[in-house]
Amino acid sequence: MLQTISETGKSFSDEVSCVSDLKQLEEVRIKYLSRKGVVANLFEGLKTVPKEIKPQVGKSLNELRNLVQTQFDVLKEKLEAEAQKDKRVIDISIPGREKTIGSRHILTQTLDEIKLIFKGLGFSIFEGPELESDYNNFEALNFPADHPARDMQDTFFVNQNYLLRTHTSPVQIRVMQNQKPPVRAIMPGKVYRNEAISARSYCLFHQVEGLYVDKDVTFAELKGTLVSFARQFYGSDFKYRFRPSYFPFTEPSAEMDITCFLCKGKGCRMCKQSGWLEILGCGMVDPNVFKAVGYDPEEYSGYAFGMGIERIAILKYDIPDIRIYFENDMRFLKQF
Ligand code: DAH
Repeated sequence: MLQTISETGKSFSDEVSCVSDLKQLEEVRIKYLSRKGVVANLFEGLKTVPKEIKPQVGKSLNELRNLVQTQFDVLKEKLEAEAQKDKRVIDISIPGREKTIGSRHILTQTLDEIKLIFKGLGFSIFEGPELESDYNNFEALNFPADHPARDMQDTFFVNQNYLLRTHTSPVQIRVMQNQKPPVRAIMPGKVYRNEAISARSYCLFHQVEGLYVDKDVTFAELKGTLVSFARQFYGSDFKYRFRPSYFPFTEPSAEMDITCFLCKGKGCRMCKQSGWLEILGCGMVDPNVFKAVGYDPEEYSGYAFGMGIERIAILKYDIPDIRIYFENDMRFLKQF
């Protein structure tokens, strides 16, 4: 019996060394490893072996089975890998795929630049939700209910108390509710207005809000900060002016204009012949806003400003139509 076992091992090794494909290997498997195969038969024969040598014979039978199984497994894996390789036919005449490198959207680039400038001026960055309460969007910003100033911004209401924010100014309220002065922050984000869509207005756009509150903040500081921003963003070759304006949440309020860079102030279609371009709204925070967030208007003062990112980029790059930002037309996007 022991001799048969060792001969079986040898003959298996011989046969397996001649196998060159999976079909032949399968034949060898059936012969040796199937339920009626050579190895199973030998185990069957174990029953008739005298008791004294049973353990020894059993041990070599187990060794034989392990040897056969291992050699089979190793060869099977190798042949399968080779079969897979043969399937991969490479056509070297196919042209390669071009890898195109993407770029950031022009609005993202503009916002990044604005953020960087204000970070350099000591401002931190906060964001607020696009779904906002009527209270934060209007009430706390000194737009009383039924006040005509609410008509300045056509609003998408979600229900009586909630709306899609019409400006980023409500983030001022959130920041001040959560923090004691001094506060020096910019607040970028998306805003929504229920406007007739045209080349000049869209139902969605982006703003950057700014707020600085501390003891003894003055209008001169507001002007200094905004002029410094404009010089870094547009270059220093322009004149500027602050025109009186009206916003419910600032008093006094102003709009900042800079020299039209298309005509250098002579008057053209971009500046509607005025020579000036309006770039942002601003003012000193109204005492009523401070009261709404629990700041003492006798102790603190502050300034705020807000600008539209689309507008800022329209002016800088002479973009003819605001809708083009949202159309994902590669011919437009690739220019930046
Ligand atoms: N929220 C104003 C708007 O959407 C922009 C604005 C003007 C923001 C003056 C301000 C500000 O913080 O002081 O038209």
